[in-house]
Amino acid sequence: MRANDVLGSRAFSLLGLGECMVELCADVPLGVAHVLRRSYGGDVLNSLIAAARLGGRCGFISRVGNDPFGAAMRQSWSDEGIDVSHSPLVPGDNGVYFISVDDAGDREFSYRRKDSPASHLAASELSESYIASSEMLLLSGITQALSASARESTLVAAQIAKRHGVKVAFDPNYRSRLWATQGGLNAARDAMRELAPFVDWLLPSHPADTVLLSDHASELPIDDFAGSAESLQGFSALCPQVALKVGARGCRLHTPIASTHVDGVKAAKVIDSTGAGDLWNGSFLIAVIRGETPVNAATAAHHLAASKLAYRGAIPPLSLYGSSR
Ligand SMILES: Nc1ncnc2c1ncn2[C@@H]1O[C@H](COP(=O)(O)OP(=O)(O)OP(=O)(O)O)[C@@H](O)[C@H]1O
Ligand SMILES: [Mg+2]
Repeated sequence: MRANDVLGSRAFSLLGLGECMVELCADVPLGVAHVLRRSYGGDVLNSLIAAARLGGRCGFISRVGNDPFGAAMRQSWSDEGIDVSHSPLVPGDNGVYFISVDDAGDREFSYRRKDSPASHLAASELSESYIASSEMLLLSGITQALSASARESTLVAAQIAKRHGVKVAFDPNYRSRLWATQGGLNAARDAMRELAPFVDWLLPSHPADTVLLSDHASELPIDDFAGSAESLQGFSALCPQVALKVGARGCRLHTPIASTHVDGVKAAKVIDSTGAGDLWNGSFLIAVIRGETPVNAATAAHHLAASKLAYRGAIPPLSLYGSSR
């Protein structure tokens, strides 16, 4: 057990449900790239890695394809200290995404994840006792958007958590291209609303997720910082505790006690923002689980997220965590 492991009576601090994909990353536009670096990433998994590196006891609930990447992917999560007992290796090819980030920080993405093993997540395969063994469960709109059965699994996992007094955190992480195959924006809105009654911490981003709030999103001044105050109000009508990430501006927090803005931290270098929000979630949640105030938890998360920006890829090197471990 690591020195700063989270104290608590349950076996796990944070479990997450989601999909991890193979990442193939280039430094030049994908169409002309000769060399791609292989890694892996997925929003919930990225958050779990951050939480584990900060001393949390974490586990990933997923399905992993038995292609040439699957076993190594599971092993690397284990090496991070993440429990993979509920991420079985199953027949199938894992999802893959291609990403390029050029020197100006411009990003290109291309995904191949249709019918991936994780899109066959099924509520009937969830283990009630496993979910009940955690302090908190992290869920995502990206998992909901994988398929009807992954959306149902997300809802059922939240219901199980609620029954056992496990806190639920949810990042809507709205991705229009992914939702396009699952009913579009209205389906994403419905999926967020069906889950909201079970959520203790809502972790959206502004402006990316603000579009989920209203049928008339264009009426919100969504692209400016002032618009994020209105966005926070909208999300807080759905959930008692909200941490709304606002990029370089930091975040806005809402709890039944107060609404506050916590300034971001100036990044020394901005190369790639991929996964910054996920790392922020993992860092924020593990601090909250430890009993930190939301403001302190957000401040720590801002520092880590800002330092991640200097690195390419969804998961930054372990050295980023230096003194936090
Ligand atoms: N340019 C920046 N400078 C400093 N900090 C940043 C910057 N961009 C992001 N951050 C940090 O990362 C956190 C999350 O950023 P953001 O709001 O972009 O999340 P996100 O949209 O969920 O990201 P993603 O889903 O792509 O991982 C912010 O709250 C902030 O702490
Ligand atoms: Mg995000």
